[in-house]
Amino acid sequence: MDIRSAGVVGLGTMGAGIAEVLARAGLTVTAVEADPDALARGMSMIDSSLGKAASRGRLTEQQHREIASRVQPAAAMASMADADLVVEVVPEQLPIKRKVVAELDRVLRPEAIIATNTSSLSVTAIAADSACPGRVVGMHFFNPAPVMRLVEVVTTVLTEPESARTVTALAERIGKTPVQVTDRAGFVANALLLPYLNHAVRLLETGYAACDDIDLAVTAGIGLPMGPLALLDLIGLDTSLAILEALEREFGGTRYTPAPMLRRLADAGQTGRKSGRGFYDYRQEETGQTSGKESAELPAPPGTVTLIDPSIGRPASPNSDRAEDLASLLAAAGVSVSWNPVHPTDLALVVIGPEGGVLGPARAAGRTADAVGMHLPHKSLAELVPSALTSAAALGRARALVARLGLTAVRSADRPGLLVGALLFPHLRDAVAMAADGYAAPRDVDTAMTLGCGYPRGPMRLLADVGPELAVDVLSAMHAGYGDPAFAPPPLLREYALGGLPGALSGAG
Ligand code: CAA
Repeated sequence: MDIRSAGVVGLGTMGAGIAEVLARAGLTVTAVEADPDALARGMSMIDSSLGKAASRGRLTEQQHREIASRVQPAAAMASMADADLVVEVVPEQLPIKRKVVAELDRVLRPEAIIATNTSSLSVTAIAADSACPGRVVGMHFFNPAPVMRLVEVVTTVLTEPESARTVTALAERIGKTPVQVTDRAGFVANALLLPYLNHAVRLLETGYAACDDIDLAVTAGIGLPMGPLALLDLIGLDTSLAILEALEREFGGTRYTPAPMLRRLADAGQTGRKSGRGFYDYRQEETGQTSGKESAELPAPPGTVTLIDPSIGRPASPNSDRAEDLASLLAAAGVSVSWNPVHPTDLALVVIGPEGGVLGPARAAGRTADAVGMHLPHKSLAELVPSALTSAAALGRARALVARLGLTAVRSADRPGLLVGALLFPHLRDAVAMAADGYAAPRDVDTAMTLGCGYPRGPMRLLADVGPELAVDVLSAMHAGYGDPAFAPPPLLREYALGGLPGALSGAG
Protein backbone atom coordinates (compact mmCIF):
# COMPACT_ATOMS: atom_id res chain seq x y z
CA MET A 1 0.00 0.00 0.00
CA ASP A 2 1.32 3.43 -0.94
CA ILE A 3 1.09 5.80 2.02
CA ARG A 4 0.38 9.40 0.97
CA SER A 5 -1.33 10.93 3.95
CA ALA A 6 -0.64 10.19 7.58
CA GLY A 7 -1.93 11.11 10.98
CA VAL A 8 -0.15 11.48 14.29
CA VAL A 9 -2.11 11.29 17.55
CA GLY A 10 -0.36 12.97 20.49
CA LEU A 11 1.98 15.90 19.90
CA GLY A 12 4.53 15.62 22.71
CA THR A 13 8.27 15.52 21.95
CA MET A 14 8.10 12.19 20.10
CA GLY A 15 4.81 12.92 18.31
CA ALA A 16 6.12 16.26 17.03
CA GLY A 17 9.38 14.62 15.89
CA ILE A 18 7.50 11.85 14.05
CA ALA A 19 5.14 14.35 12.38
CA GLU A 20 8.19 16.32 11.23
CA VAL A 21 9.90 13.22 9.80
CA LEU A 22 6.76 12.19 7.88
CA ALA A 23 6.22 15.69 6.51
CA ARG A 24 9.88 15.98 5.48
CA ALA A 25 9.37 12.82 3.37
CA GLY A 26 6.54 14.53 1.46
CA LEU A 27 3.52 13.10 3.29
CA THR A 28 0.64 15.29 4.38
CA VAL A 29 0.23 14.91 8.13
CA THR A 30 -2.76 15.61 10.35
CA ALA A 31 -1.47 16.17 13.87
CA VAL A 32 -4.17 15.53 16.45
CA GLU A 33 -3.89 16.62 20.05
CA ALA A 34 -6.91 17.18 22.26
CA ASP A 35 -5.19 19.65 24.61
CA PRO A 36 -4.98 23.01 22.74
CA ASP A 37 -1.86 24.13 24.67
CA ALA A 38 -0.06 20.86 23.92
CA LEU A 39 -1.10 21.16 20.27
CA ALA A 40 0.36 24.67 20.05
CA ARG A 41 3.56 23.54 21.82
CA GLY A 42 3.92 20.54 19.48
CA MET A 43 3.43 22.66 16.36
CA SER A 44 5.99 25.14 17.60
CA MET A 45 8.46 22.30 18.30
CA ILE A 46 8.12 21.22 14.66
CA ASP A 47 8.60 24.76 13.42
CA SER A 48 11.63 25.43 15.58
CA SER A 49 13.26 22.10 14.62
CA LEU A 50 12.77 22.94 10.93
CA GLY A 51 14.01 26.48 11.59
CA LYS A 52 17.16 25.09 13.22
CA ALA A 53 17.76 22.83 10.21
CA ALA A 54 17.32 25.84 7.91
CA SER A 55 19.71 27.95 9.98
CA ARG A 56 22.32 25.18 9.67
CA GLY A 57 21.87 25.17 5.90
CA ARG A 58 20.23 21.69 5.87
CA LEU A 59 16.97 23.10 4.45
CA THR A 60 16.14 26.22 2.45
CA GLU A 61 13.64 28.66 3.92
CA GLN A 62 11.20 27.61 1.22
CA GLN A 63 11.57 23.90 2.14
CA HIS A 64 11.04 24.87 5.77
CA ARG A 65 7.74 26.60 4.87
CA GLU A 66 6.60 23.77 2.58
CA ILE A 67 7.29 21.04 5.14
CA ALA A 68 5.65 23.03 7.93
CA SER A 69 2.57 23.62 5.76
CA ARG A 70 2.14 19.87 5.22
CA VAL A 71 1.44 19.41 8.96
CA GLN A 72 -2.17 20.31 9.75
CA PRO A 73 -3.06 20.68 13.45
CA ALA A 74 -6.41 19.30 14.56
CA ALA A 75 -8.27 18.64 17.80
CA ALA A 76 -10.48 15.73 16.71
CA MET A 77 -9.69 12.24 15.43
CA ALA A 78 -12.37 12.66 12.75
CA SER A 79 -9.96 15.00 10.91
CA MET A 80 -7.87 11.95 10.02
CA ALA A 81 -10.65 10.05 8.24
CA ASP A 82 -8.72 10.00 4.95
CA ALA A 83 -5.31 9.03 6.39
CA ASP A 84 -3.61 5.92 4.97
CA LEU A 85 -1.67 5.40 8.20
CA VAL A 86 -1.89 6.86 11.69
CA VAL A 87 0.87 6.72 14.30
CA GLU A 88 -0.35 6.94 17.88
CA VAL A 89 2.07 8.58 20.29
CA VAL A 90 -0.15 9.04 23.36
CA PRO A 91 1.07 8.38 26.95
CA GLU A 92 2.34 4.88 27.80
CA GLN A 93 -0.82 3.57 29.45
CA LEU A 94 -2.64 0.61 27.99
CA PRO A 95 -6.21 1.90 28.60
CA ILE A 96 -5.36 5.20 26.85
CA LYS A 97 -3.73 3.42 23.89
CA ARG A 98 -6.68 1.03 23.56
CA LYS A 99 -9.16 3.91 23.62
CA VAL A 100 -7.24 5.65 20.84
CA VAL A 101 -7.19 2.47 18.74
CA ALA A 102 -10.96 2.05 19.25
CA GLU A 103 -11.57 5.64 18.12
CA LEU A 104 -9.30 5.14 15.11
CA ASP A 105 -11.25 1.99 14.23
CA ARG A 106 -14.35 4.18 14.06
CA VAL A 107 -12.92 6.99 11.91
CA LEU A 108 -10.37 5.32 9.58
CA ARG A 109 -11.01 3.42 6.36
CA PRO A 110 -10.76 -0.36 6.95
CA GLU A 111 -7.54 -0.67 4.94
CA ALA A 112 -5.74 2.17 6.78
CA ILE A 113 -2.93 1.12 9.10
CA ILE A 114 -2.65 1.90 12.80
CA ALA A 115 0.94 2.15 13.98
CA THR A 116 1.76 2.41 17.67
CA ASN A 117 4.95 4.06 18.85
CA THR A 118 4.71 2.32 22.22
CA SER A 119 8.13 1.90 23.77
CA SER A 120 7.20 -0.72 26.35
CA LEU A 121 3.62 -1.92 26.21
CA SER A 122 2.62 -5.10 24.42
CA VAL A 123 1.59 -4.34 20.84
CA THR A 124 -0.52 -7.51 21.01
CA ALA A 125 -2.42 -6.11 24.01
CA ILE A 126 -2.90 -2.76 22.20
CA ALA A 127 -4.14 -4.56 19.05
CA ALA A 128 -6.27 -7.26 20.66
CA ASP A 129 -9.42 -5.18 21.21
CA SER A 130 -9.24 -3.52 17.79
CA ALA A 131 -11.97 -4.24 15.27
CA CYS A 132 -9.14 -5.02 12.79
CA PRO A 133 -6.16 -6.24 14.88
CA GLY A 134 -4.32 -7.33 11.73
CA ARG A 135 -3.67 -3.70 10.79
CA VAL A 136 -2.08 -2.72 14.10
CA VAL A 137 1.74 -2.68 13.94
CA GLY A 138 4.42 -1.34 16.28
CA MET A 139 6.48 1.45 14.71
CA HIS A 140 8.95 2.45 17.37
CA PHE A 141 11.00 5.62 16.78
CA PHE A 142 13.92 6.93 18.84
CA ASN A 143 14.43 10.34 20.36
CA PRO A 144 15.21 12.75 18.68
CA ALA A 145 13.02 11.22 15.95
CA PRO A 146 14.39 13.45 13.16
CA VAL A 147 17.95 12.30 13.92
CA MET A 148 17.95 8.66 15.08
CA ARG A 149 17.80 6.25 12.15
CA LEU A 150 16.33 3.15 13.76
CA VAL A 151 12.67 2.17 13.57
CA GLU A 152 11.72 -1.07 15.30
CA VAL A 153 8.84 -2.65 13.39
CA VAL A 154 6.95 -4.79 15.89
CA THR A 155 4.69 -7.55 14.63
CA THR A 156 2.37 -9.72 16.68
CA VAL A 157 0.63 -13.02 16.04
CA LEU A 158 -2.34 -10.93 14.92
CA THR A 159 -0.50 -8.72 12.40
CA GLU A 160 -1.33 -9.12 8.70
CA PRO A 161 1.94 -9.54 6.77
CA GLU A 162 0.81 -6.79 4.37
CA SER A 163 0.53 -4.27 7.24
CA ALA A 164 4.06 -5.09 8.39
CA ARG A 165 5.36 -4.76 4.81
CA THR A 166 3.69 -1.36 4.41
CA VAL A 167 5.16 -0.02 7.66
CA THR A 168 8.61 -1.38 6.77
CA ALA A 169 8.46 0.26 3.33
CA LEU A 170 7.31 3.54 4.87
CA ALA A 171 10.17 3.50 7.38
CA GLU A 172 12.62 3.11 4.50
CA ARG A 173 10.94 5.86 2.51
CA ILE A 174 11.30 8.35 5.37
CA GLY A 175 15.01 7.60 5.56
CA LYS A 176 15.02 5.22 8.52
CA THR A 177 16.39 1.70 8.89
CA PRO A 178 13.58 -0.67 9.87
CA VAL A 179 14.45 -3.67 12.00
CA GLN A 180 11.81 -6.37 12.40
CA VAL A 181 11.32 -7.38 16.05
CA THR A 182 8.79 -9.50 17.89
CA ASP A 183 6.52 -8.28 20.63
CA ARG A 184 8.64 -8.59 23.75
CA ALA A 185 8.89 -5.88 26.44
CA GLY A 186 11.43 -3.24 25.46
CA PHE A 187 11.85 -4.85 22.01
CA VAL A 188 15.63 -4.79 21.41
CA ALA A 189 17.00 -1.32 22.10
CA ASN A 190 15.04 -0.34 25.21
CA ALA A 191 15.48 -3.79 26.75
CA LEU A 192 19.23 -3.16 26.64
CA LEU A 193 19.30 0.56 27.25
CA LEU A 194 17.00 0.98 30.22
CA PRO A 195 18.67 -1.42 32.71
CA TYR A 196 21.97 0.32 32.02
CA LEU A 197 20.41 3.76 32.57
CA ASN A 198 18.73 2.47 35.74
CA HIS A 199 22.07 1.23 37.04
CA ALA A 200 23.54 4.70 36.52
CA VAL A 201 20.79 6.16 38.73
CA ARG A 202 21.61 3.57 41.42
CA LEU A 203 25.27 4.61 41.31
CA LEU A 204 24.20 8.23 41.77
CA GLU A 205 21.72 7.63 44.57
CA THR A 206 24.12 5.44 46.55
CA GLY A 207 26.85 8.09 46.37
CA TYR A 208 29.07 5.81 44.28
CA ALA A 209 29.81 8.70 41.92
CA ALA A 210 28.57 12.21 41.11
CA CYS A 211 26.15 13.03 38.30
CA ASP A 212 28.68 14.72 36.00
CA ASP A 213 31.27 12.03 36.67
CA ILE A 214 28.85 9.24 35.71
CA ASP A 215 28.08 10.97 32.42
CA LEU A 216 31.74 11.82 31.73
CA ALA A 217 32.78 8.22 32.40
CA VAL A 218 30.47 7.14 29.58
CA THR A 219 31.21 9.87 27.04
CA ALA A 220 34.96 10.14 27.63
CA GLY A 221 35.57 6.57 28.79
CA ILE A 222 33.33 4.59 26.42
CA GLY A 223 32.73 7.10 23.61
CA LEU A 224 28.92 7.04 23.68
CA PRO A 225 27.25 10.27 22.50
CA MET A 226 25.54 11.02 25.82
CA GLY A 227 25.97 10.04 29.43
CA PRO A 228 23.19 7.91 30.95
CA LEU A 229 21.75 10.62 33.21
CA ALA A 230 21.66 13.22 30.43
CA LEU A 231 20.03 10.58 28.22
CA LEU A 232 17.38 9.84 30.85
CA ASP A 233 16.61 13.56 30.88
CA LEU A 234 16.23 13.46 27.09
CA ILE A 235 13.97 10.38 27.03
CA GLY A 236 11.93 11.64 30.01
CA LEU A 237 12.09 10.16 33.50
CA ASP A 238 8.39 9.27 33.46
CA THR A 239 8.74 7.43 30.15
CA SER A 240 11.86 5.66 31.39
CA LEU A 241 10.09 4.62 34.58
CA ALA A 242 7.16 3.20 32.58
CA ILE A 243 9.54 1.19 30.38
CA LEU A 244 11.39 -0.21 33.40
CA GLU A 245 8.12 -1.19 35.05
CA ALA A 246 7.09 -3.06 31.90
CA LEU A 247 10.49 -4.79 31.73
CA GLU A 248 10.30 -5.72 35.40
CA ARG A 249 6.79 -7.16 34.92
CA GLU A 250 7.94 -9.25 31.99
CA PHE A 251 11.42 -10.39 33.05
CA GLY A 252 11.82 -9.70 36.80
CA GLY A 253 15.27 -9.22 38.32
CA THR A 254 17.18 -6.37 39.89
CA ARG A 255 18.39 -4.76 36.66
CA TYR A 256 14.80 -3.73 35.88
CA THR A 257 13.62 -2.68 39.35
CA PRO A 258 13.39 1.10 39.01
CA ALA A 259 15.89 2.96 41.20
CA PRO A 260 13.91 4.81 43.91
CA MET A 261 15.51 8.11 42.87
CA LEU A 262 14.11 7.75 39.35
CA ARG A 263 10.62 7.22 40.74
CA ARG A 264 10.91 10.13 43.18
CA LEU A 265 12.05 12.56 40.50
CA ALA A 266 9.29 11.42 38.15
CA ASP A 267 6.72 11.73 40.98
CA ALA A 268 8.00 15.23 41.67
CA GLY A 269 7.38 16.21 38.06
CA GLN A 270 11.12 16.60 37.40
CA THR A 271 10.83 14.54 34.25
CA GLY A 272 13.88 15.85 32.41
CA ARG A 273 14.31 18.25 29.52
CA LYS A 274 10.61 18.50 28.78
CA SER A 275 9.85 19.86 32.27
CA GLY A 276 13.03 21.94 32.46
CA ARG A 277 14.53 19.80 35.22
CA GLY A 278 15.62 16.22 35.78
CA PHE A 279 19.09 15.12 36.82
CA TYR A 280 20.24 18.44 35.35
CA ASP A 281 18.63 21.84 35.39
CA TYR A 282 17.77 23.14 31.89
CA ARG A 283 15.96 26.28 33.00
CA GLN A 284 19.22 28.25 32.89
CA GLU A 285 19.99 27.24 29.30
CA GLU A 286 17.81 30.02 27.96
CA THR A 287 19.84 32.57 29.89
CA GLY A 288 23.06 31.09 28.52
CA GLN A 289 24.23 29.68 31.85
CA THR A 290 25.40 26.12 32.09
CA SER A 291 23.91 23.57 34.45
CA GLY A 292 27.23 21.85 35.13
CA LYS A 293 29.04 22.22 38.44
CA GLU A 294 31.49 25.01 38.95
CA SER A 295 35.03 23.84 38.29
CA ALA A 296 36.79 23.75 41.66
CA GLU A 297 40.11 25.53 42.12
CA LEU A 298 42.90 22.96 41.93
CA PRO A 299 46.03 22.99 44.11
CA ALA A 300 49.49 22.92 42.53
CA PRO A 301 50.18 19.54 40.91
CA PRO A 302 52.61 17.26 42.78
CA GLY A 303 56.22 17.37 41.63
CA THR A 304 57.05 13.93 43.02
CA VAL A 305 54.83 10.87 43.01
CA THR A 306 55.24 7.38 44.47
CA LEU A 307 53.75 4.59 42.42
CA ILE A 308 52.42 1.62 44.36
CA ASP A 309 51.96 -1.46 42.21
CA PRO A 310 49.72 -3.91 44.11
CA SER A 311 51.01 -6.77 41.94
CA ILE A 312 54.67 -6.23 42.84
CA GLY A 313 56.42 -9.43 43.88
CA ARG A 314 53.87 -11.49 41.93
CA PRO A 315 54.26 -12.87 38.41
CA ALA A 316 54.03 -10.28 35.61
CA SER A 317 50.41 -9.09 35.26
CA PRO A 318 48.49 -6.48 33.28
CA ASN A 319 48.90 -4.33 36.36
CA SER A 320 52.68 -4.25 36.03
CA ASP A 321 52.20 -2.95 32.48
CA ARG A 322 49.72 -0.37 33.73
CA ALA A 323 52.22 0.83 36.34
CA GLU A 324 55.02 1.07 33.76
CA ASP A 325 52.76 2.98 31.35
CA LEU A 326 51.74 5.42 34.07
CA ALA A 327 55.37 5.92 35.08
CA SER A 328 56.24 6.85 31.47
CA LEU A 329 53.28 9.24 31.25
CA LEU A 330 54.32 10.97 34.48
CA ALA A 331 57.96 11.19 33.46
CA ALA A 332 56.96 12.71 30.10
CA ALA A 333 54.99 15.38 32.00
CA GLY A 334 58.08 16.21 34.09
CA VAL A 335 56.88 14.53 37.29
CA SER A 336 59.53 12.71 39.29
CA VAL A 337 58.52 9.09 39.99
CA SER A 338 59.60 6.94 42.92
CA TRP A 339 58.84 3.25 43.45
CA ASN A 340 59.95 3.32 47.08
CA PRO A 341 56.99 4.01 49.40
CA VAL A 342 59.30 4.99 52.27
CA HIS A 343 60.79 7.77 50.17
CA PRO A 344 58.74 10.94 50.94
CA THR A 345 56.85 12.36 47.93
CA ASP A 346 53.90 14.72 47.35
CA LEU A 347 51.43 11.95 46.48
CA ALA A 348 51.16 8.16 46.36
CA LEU A 349 49.23 6.55 43.52
CA VAL A 350 48.02 2.96 43.82
CA VAL A 351 47.97 1.68 40.24
CA ILE A 352 44.79 -0.37 40.23
CA GLY A 353 42.98 -2.39 37.58
CA PRO A 354 39.20 -2.21 37.03
CA GLU A 355 38.67 -4.60 39.95
CA GLY A 356 39.81 -1.81 42.35
CA GLY A 357 41.37 -2.35 45.80
CA VAL A 358 43.20 0.76 47.06
CA LEU A 359 43.28 0.51 50.84
CA GLY A 360 45.20 -2.79 51.20
CA PRO A 361 48.23 -1.74 49.10
CA ALA A 362 48.10 1.80 50.56
CA ARG A 363 48.27 0.42 54.13
CA ALA A 364 50.98 -2.07 53.24
CA ALA A 365 53.01 0.86 51.90
CA GLY A 366 52.33 2.96 55.03
CA ARG A 367 50.71 5.71 52.89
CA THR A 368 47.00 5.45 53.83
CA ALA A 369 46.27 9.20 54.03
CA ASP A 370 48.08 10.36 50.90
CA ALA A 371 47.36 7.40 48.58
CA VAL A 372 44.80 7.63 45.79
CA GLY A 373 43.94 4.81 43.40
CA MET A 374 44.31 5.55 39.70
CA HIS A 375 43.07 3.62 36.68
CA LEU A 376 43.13 4.75 33.05
CA PRO A 377 40.27 2.96 31.26
CA HIS A 378 40.80 5.10 28.17
CA LYS A 379 43.67 7.18 26.85
CA SER A 380 41.89 10.42 27.77
CA LEU A 381 40.22 9.44 31.06
CA ALA A 382 41.54 8.77 34.55
CA GLU A 383 39.43 7.18 37.27
CA LEU A 384 40.51 8.57 40.66
CA VAL A 385 39.65 6.26 43.51
CA PRO A 386 40.12 7.46 47.09
CA SER A 387 40.01 4.87 49.86
CA ALA A 388 38.01 5.48 53.03
CA LEU A 389 41.20 6.91 54.59
CA THR A 390 42.43 9.11 51.73
CA SER A 391 42.67 12.79 52.71
CA ALA A 392 40.82 15.48 50.75
CA ALA A 393 44.18 17.20 50.13
CA ALA A 394 45.64 14.08 48.50
CA LEU A 395 42.57 13.74 46.26
CA GLY A 396 42.93 17.41 45.26
CA ARG A 397 46.60 16.85 44.35
CA ALA A 398 45.63 13.79 42.31
CA ARG A 399 43.08 15.87 40.41
CA ALA A 400 45.71 18.52 39.74
CA LEU A 401 48.06 15.82 38.48
CA VAL A 402 45.44 14.46 36.09
CA ALA A 403 44.82 17.97 34.75
CA ARG A 404 48.57 18.38 34.24
CA LEU A 405 48.60 15.13 32.23
CA GLY A 406 45.85 16.60 30.02
CA LEU A 407 43.34 13.91 31.01
CA THR A 408 39.74 14.10 32.20
CA ALA A 409 39.24 12.91 35.79
CA VAL A 410 36.24 11.14 37.27
CA ARG A 411 35.99 10.06 40.88
CA SER A 412 34.78 6.54 41.59
CA ALA A 413 33.98 4.46 44.64
CA ASP A 414 36.50 1.67 45.25
CA ARG A 415 34.22 -1.15 44.15
CA PRO A 416 34.62 -3.86 41.48
CA GLY A 417 34.40 -2.33 38.02
CA LEU A 418 35.16 1.17 39.31
CA LEU A 419 32.98 3.64 37.37
CA VAL A 420 33.43 2.92 33.66
CA GLY A 421 33.49 -0.86 34.15
CA ALA A 422 30.51 -0.90 36.52
CA LEU A 423 28.44 0.83 33.83
CA LEU A 424 29.89 -0.88 30.76
CA PHE A 425 30.35 -4.55 31.60
CA PRO A 426 26.82 -5.32 32.88
CA HIS A 427 25.50 -3.55 29.75
CA LEU A 428 27.65 -5.77 27.52
CA ARG A 429 26.58 -8.76 29.58
CA ASP A 430 22.91 -7.94 28.92
CA ALA A 431 23.64 -7.75 25.18
CA VAL A 432 25.34 -11.15 25.19
CA ALA A 433 22.48 -12.62 27.25
CA MET A 434 19.98 -11.27 24.72
CA ALA A 435 21.87 -12.98 21.90
CA ALA A 436 22.19 -16.16 23.97
CA ASP A 437 18.41 -16.18 24.53
CA GLY A 438 17.98 -16.20 20.75
CA TYR A 439 15.92 -13.02 20.96
CA ALA A 440 18.11 -10.99 18.62
CA ALA A 441 21.11 -11.93 16.52
CA PRO A 442 24.33 -10.30 17.80
CA ARG A 443 24.53 -8.26 14.61
CA ASP A 444 20.97 -6.93 15.13
CA VAL A 445 21.85 -5.96 18.69
CA ASP A 446 24.67 -3.81 17.32
CA THR A 447 22.44 -2.32 14.60
CA ALA A 448 19.78 -1.40 17.15
CA MET A 449 22.21 0.39 19.45
CA THR A 450 24.17 2.20 16.73
CA LEU A 451 21.14 3.42 14.79
CA GLY A 452 18.74 3.83 17.73
CA CYS A 453 21.06 5.29 20.35
CA GLY A 454 23.94 6.73 18.33
CA TYR A 455 26.59 4.32 19.65
CA PRO A 456 29.70 4.60 17.48
CA ARG A 457 30.07 0.82 17.86
CA GLY A 458 27.43 -1.63 19.06
CA PRO A 459 27.80 -3.61 22.32
CA MET A 460 29.27 -6.67 20.54
CA ARG A 461 31.95 -4.58 18.86
CA LEU A 462 32.63 -2.80 22.16
CA LEU A 463 33.01 -6.22 23.78
CA ALA A 464 35.45 -7.33 21.11
CA ASP A 465 37.45 -4.12 21.64
CA VAL A 466 37.71 -4.30 25.44
CA GLY A 467 38.16 -8.08 25.39
CA PRO A 468 35.66 -10.67 26.62
CA GLU A 469 38.24 -12.01 29.12
CA LEU A 470 38.31 -8.64 30.91
CA ALA A 471 34.49 -8.54 30.83
CA VAL A 472 34.35 -11.98 32.49
CA ASP A 473 36.90 -10.92 35.14
CA VAL A 474 35.14 -7.69 36.06
CA LEU A 475 31.66 -9.23 36.02
CA SER A 476 32.86 -12.13 38.16
CA ALA A 477 34.29 -9.60 40.65
CA MET A 478 31.00 -7.65 40.63
CA HIS A 479 29.03 -10.88 41.08
CA ALA A 480 31.27 -11.97 43.98
CA GLY A 481 31.17 -8.48 45.53
CA TYR A 482 27.41 -7.88 45.36
CA GLY A 483 26.02 -11.42 45.11
CA ASP A 484 23.62 -10.26 42.40
CA PRO A 485 23.08 -12.90 39.70
CA ALA A 486 22.42 -10.06 37.22
CA PHE A 487 26.22 -9.56 37.15
CA ALA A 488 27.17 -13.23 36.62
CA PRO A 489 28.90 -13.74 33.26
CA PRO A 490 26.58 -15.82 31.05
CA PRO A 491 27.98 -19.04 29.51
CA LEU A 492 28.12 -17.49 26.02
CA LEU A 493 30.35 -14.69 27.33
CA ARG A 494 32.68 -17.27 28.89
CA GLU A 495 32.79 -19.01 25.50
CA TYR A 496 33.70 -15.72 23.81
CA ALA A 497 36.45 -15.30 26.43
CA LEU A 498 37.83 -18.73 25.61
CA GLY A 499 37.41 -18.79 21.85
CA GLY A 500 36.97 -15.14 20.82
CA LEU A 501 33.92 -13.52 19.28
CA PRO A 502 32.78 -14.67 15.85
CA GLY A 503 34.90 -12.90 13.19
CA ALA A 504 32.16 -10.61 11.88
CA LEU A 505 31.45 -9.29 15.38
CA SER A 506 35.04 -8.73 16.32
CA GLY A 507 35.51 -6.56 13.24
CA ALA A 508 37.82 -9.17 11.75
CA GLY A 509 35.23 -10.69 9.38
N1 CAA B 1 15.43 17.54 16.82
C1 CAA B 1 15.91 17.62 15.56
N2 CAA B 1 17.22 17.60 15.27
C2 CAA B 1 18.09 17.51 16.30
C3 CAA B 1 17.66 17.44 17.64
C4 CAA B 1 16.26 17.44 17.88
N3 CAA B 1 15.75 17.36 19.12
N4 CAA B 1 18.74 17.34 18.45
C5 CAA B 1 19.82 17.36 17.64
N5 CAA B 1 19.42 17.46 16.35
C6 CAA B 1 20.26 17.49 15.16
C7 CAA B 1 21.04 18.76 15.08
O1 CAA B 1 20.31 19.79 14.44
C8 CAA B 1 22.25 18.32 14.25
O2 CAA B 1 21.88 18.26 12.88
P1 CAA B 1 22.92 18.57 11.69
O3 CAA B 1 24.05 17.58 11.87
O4 CAA B 1 22.11 18.31 10.47
O5 CAA B 1 23.34 19.96 11.85
C9 CAA B 1 22.49 16.89 14.73
O6 CAA B 1 21.23 16.44 15.27
C10 CAA B 1 23.56 16.79 15.80
O7 CAA B 1 23.15 17.64 16.86
P2 CAA B 1 24.13 18.52 17.76
O8 CAA B 1 25.37 18.83 16.97
O9 CAA B 1 23.37 19.67 18.33
O10 CAA B 1 24.43 17.62 19.00
P3 CAA B 1 25.19 16.27 19.13
O11 CAA B 1 26.19 16.03 18.07
O12 CAA B 1 25.61 16.29 20.54
O13 CAA B 1 24.03 15.17 18.94
C11 CAA B 1 22.27 13.78 19.65
C12 CAA B 1 22.85 15.20 19.67
C13 CAA B 1 21.89 13.40 18.22
C14 CAA B 1 21.03 13.80 20.52
C15 CAA B 1 23.36 12.77 20.19
O14 CAA B 1 23.80 13.21 21.43
C16 CAA B 1 22.86 11.35 20.31
O15 CAA B 1 22.85 10.58 19.37
N6 CAA B 1 22.43 10.98 21.56
C17 CAA B 1 21.88 9.65 21.84
C18 CAA B 1 20.37 9.75 21.79
C19 CAA B 1 19.71 8.43 22.07
O16 CAA B 1 20.27 7.51 22.62
N7 CAA B 1 18.41 8.32 21.68
C20 CAA B 1 17.62 7.13 21.92
C21 CAA B 1 16.95 7.20 23.26
S1 CAA B 1 15.94 5.78 23.55
C22 CAA B 1 14.48 6.14 22.80
O17 CAA B 1 14.24 7.21 22.33
C23 CAA B 1 13.49 5.04 22.74
C24 CAA B 1 12.47 5.08 23.77
O18 CAA B 1 11.42 4.45 23.56
C25 CAA B 1 12.68 5.72 25.03
